Amino acid sequence: MPQYFSEADSVDAVNARMGAEVSPRLRRVMASLVSHLHAFIKDVQLTQEEWEFAIEFLTRTGQICSEERQEFILLSDTLGVSMLVDAINNRRPSGATENTVLGPFHVAGAPRRAMGESISLDGKGEGCLFEGRVLDTQGRPIQGACLDVWSDNADGFYDVQQPEAQPRWNNRGVFETGADGRYSFLGIKPVSYPIPHDGPVGKMLVALGRHPYRPAHMHFIVTAPGFQTVVTHTFVGDDPYIASDAVFGVKDSLVAPFQKEGPMWRSSFDFVLMPLSP
Ligand code: BEZ
Ligand code: FE
Repeated sequence: MPQYFSEADSVDAVNARMGAEVSPRLRRVMASLVSHLHAFIKDVQLTQEEWEFAIEFLTRTGQICSEERQEFILLSDTLGVSMLVDAINNRRPSGATENTVLGPFHVAGAPRRAMGESISLDGKGEGCLFEGRVLDTQGRPIQGACLDVWSDNADGFYDVQQPEAQPRWNNRGVFETGADGRYSFLGIKPVSYPIPHDGPVGKMLVALGRHPYRPAHMHFIVTAPGFQTVVTHTFVGDDPYIASDAVFGVKDSLVAPFQKEGPMWRSSFDFVLMPLSP
């Protein structure tokens, strides 16, 4: 007897169609996806109208995507999926610097700058010295580590969001450590800002009674030959959104000190990198 589709056997009906040549990994991923998707639909007893709404929502999410905008990643970020995938793929022992979400505003090829140089080109905001060391898990300084850093400006926008109003490469730079593993640069104390929320994801947040804000943070990608890359931020601990980041990026170990010293702020943070092969 052919296996026709039925409500009771819906998962088997679909998964039984997979060809014998399908790779074990694709077979496992797709079989699990179908099983969870069907379980979800049965759990909530999805109505026809809700199904239509979901199709429309996903269509609008795709339609707003462009070279500059990736609404599906934003959807993944706001549903905690990006952080979960990152957590599963970057488990590290305590003491090693943790990853967090990359976000859409990294731009490759930022200017390489000398230690101590300023990345703030628009003269706005409260000045802040960012400094610390890049270390291995034994506490030894790493020479030749690259820190690619970026933040929003005092108005809460990245340079790429305001190409007319901000100088190119505002609040961005790449710094390479010497033998002491130390880094330092001048920036501004970052401010909290909303993720892009004029599209379907923004509407979803409103419908769910959620705000679109991220707590203030400085982005870092830290690379060094022979070490695992760290994609992370340091966060301003007293930010009003620290406990409700729209994309769930905050981790205890990434909350950095920000101390006022005269007219300037200082934020000291050491990065600890894991070897590529233990
Ligand atoms: C960001 O921190 O730049 C960011 C991260 C996720 C979504 C939107 C923005
Ligand atoms: Fe950011």
